[in-house]
Amino acid sequence: MSVDRDAFLADIIDGLSASPPELPCKYLYDARGSALFEAICETEDYYVTRADLALHEAHIGEFSAIVGPNAHIIEFGSGAGIKTRKLLAGLDRPRAYTPIEISAAALAESARLLSAAFPEVEICPLRADYTQPIEADSLRLDPPANRRVVYFPGSTISNFEHAEACAFLQRMRNIAGDGGGILIGVDLLKPADRLISAYDDSEGVTARFNLNLLRRLVDELDAELELDAFRHEARFNPDFKRIEMHLIATRPTRISIADRRFEFDAGDSIHTENSHKYSVKDFRELAASAGLESLRVWKDPQGLFSMHWLQSSQPQGAGGGSTVSLRSKST
Ligand code: AVJ
Repeated sequence: MSVDRDAFLADIIDGLSASPPELPCKYLYDARGSALFEAICETEDYYVTRADLALHEAHIGEFSAIVGPNAHIIEFGSGAGIKTRKLLAGLDRPRAYTPIEISAAALAESARLLSAAFPEVEICPLRADYTQPIEADSLRLDPPANRRVVYFPGSTISNFEHAEACAFLQRMRNIAGDGGGILIGVDLLKPADRLISAYDDSEGVTARFNLNLLRRLVDELDAELELDAFRHEARFNPDFKRIEMHLIATRPTRISIADRRFEFDAGDSIHTENSHKYSVKDFRELAASAGLESLRVWKDPQGLFSMHWLQSSQPQGAGGGSTVSLRSKST
């Protein structure tokens, strides 16, 4: 039995034992889930990806002006995608690009594609879990770049609750270091009906994405459950300003997994993902709580999505030593 399977099983049992039950959203993104997420991005209802791209297209010249020449771009995620290409093509002679990604295969593919497309940029892939601390040495360049810029498009920050998001931003701030910056995408708060249709698209792709998690329990953890006894639901939670994805039991049913049994009545929910939405002001405040100042913000032409340029609001003390572990204070 693999370590991965044991950890997966333990997380699922913990999550189903909680009340109300909830499962970590990272388990939505296996190969099939990631392909379904790509398909979500193509749907008419999910505006996020198109708005993010439109924003990059409209403002790449301003990104380039603010980042400046000879920068080391560090992306959280593998990013061989179209946005990364737009960024590298639009910046002023970027010195190097480091994708940070846990999947070796995704990382290798990204490095291969980007080396071919940008032969003049040093591609330095780093295999790591970007939610964990990263050793400063693994980002060192010789000769050094002008500055480090952490690039995190796509509003993945939305998955984190506020305390986690703050810790995560502090970690990015440590990686960027003194004089560095963060270019981060943040989906904007908007009326609930618009959000709900984006997370419950009329083609049913998001529903398949969410239900794929139950299929994984069957395929990978030998769970016994009735797939057709659950349906997808997207809810707006106004208290937390977030969209929540749930799997709702449509009739009394149970999930048996390992030696455990979890009973559900019709209407009971398993909470599977959060997507927090921010006004510009809300995100500025979050950034400030992580010691970051939002110095520029861009919106796409329709005002759906935002990109912030963040810099440390105070020097980070006697940094620059070769053995600094980029450990966040709040974890
Ligand atoms: C990958 C976190 C940006 O919250 O919009 C999309 C995930 N889930 N539809 C988002 C998601 C369902 C997505 N992020």
